[in-house]
Amino acid sequence: MEKKIPVILDCDPGHDDMVALVLALGSSALDVKAVTNVAGNKRMEKVVKNTLNILHYCGVEREVAAGAERPLVRAYTRTDADGCHGVSGLDGFEFPKDNSLKVSERKAIEVMADVLRSSEEPVTIICTAPLTNIGLLIRAFPELCRKKIKQFSIMGGTCQFVLTKPFMEFNTFLDAEATKILFESGIPITMYGYDVTYRTLFGQSFIDRLLALGNKTGYMMSSLLKEFWVLHNRTWIDLGGCPVHDACAVAGVIDPSLIVKSEKMHVEIPTESGYLSGATVCDYAHRSELPDNVTVVFELNQDRFFDLILVSAGNLT
Ligand code: RIB
Ligand code: CA
Repeated sequence: MEKKIPVILDCDPGHDDMVALVLALGSSALDVKAVTNVAGNKRMEKVVKNTLNILHYCGVEREVAAGAERPLVRAYTRTDADGCHGVSGLDGFEFPKDNSLKVSERKAIEVMADVLRSSEEPVTIICTAPLTNIGLLIRAFPELCRKKIKQFSIMGGTCQFVLTKPFMEFNTFLDAEATKILFESGIPITMYGYDVTYRTLFGQSFIDRLLALGNKTGYMMSSLLKEFWVLHNRTWIDLGGCPVHDACAVAGVIDPSLIVKSEKMHVEIPTESGYLSGATVCDYAHRSELPDNVTVVFELNQDRFFDLILVSAGNLT
């Protein structure tokens, strides 16, 4: 029996964070040591409530720790109307009110540091949200991070796919200073940006397959993803299907053979004010002669990716 991979999931649910959570918690390949939250899609109160609701509904218990309520330097200016997750952050499904799960007394970076110290194996940190907690963790515990983090697997950034502006993606620009700390840390980073997430789209058949699982988790996911598809297309772009951005950063940890195309390159994060502030400026031409600090993923095996999500969802209640 393969040893389970110890992971921490840092997230801001969000519909695609929900898929990432189900994929990770239902996978026999991962040992999810803790779940941490950061203000991103929604303010802290909502992302914590959404995280606890997802765990409770799926019949899973883990320590859920709240982290940064705003970026390191920049203001947090998101409103309820922003983004494509609705007012609650998980529009499309009513979770039961009788949720007994409570957020941890400990803060996110305390929990992360504790997991790193106590784990025999180096830990993989999966990030599906703005990187404020990660910037704080690296600044507070630089040696511990260098010694006990195997890699960061992040949903963030973009190389050649342009959604709004070149090199611009929400998780990496919202707290650009934190992103810069991570990208300059020297710790291995695998980046699942829009290049791969907008090539890995679900459609109605996937929603139908979730429903056909016949369990609570499949029903909840099918309801939420039906709504997310509508909200996403209304907010951003209609490509005939809908991305589940965050799940890509989990799938590649569970099964790296899912990665069809990736490339190591130098990625820089400008933070001075201006058009590219917070961009993931990817040197895909390899002209900079600067060190390759990121593995950028461009393509996943779609069929096996969605099959993996269904297996995890089927393993939960
Ligand atoms: O740009 C996509 C990312 O922003 C995803 O993590 C989504 O949940 C939002 O946080
Ligand atoms: Ca997210």
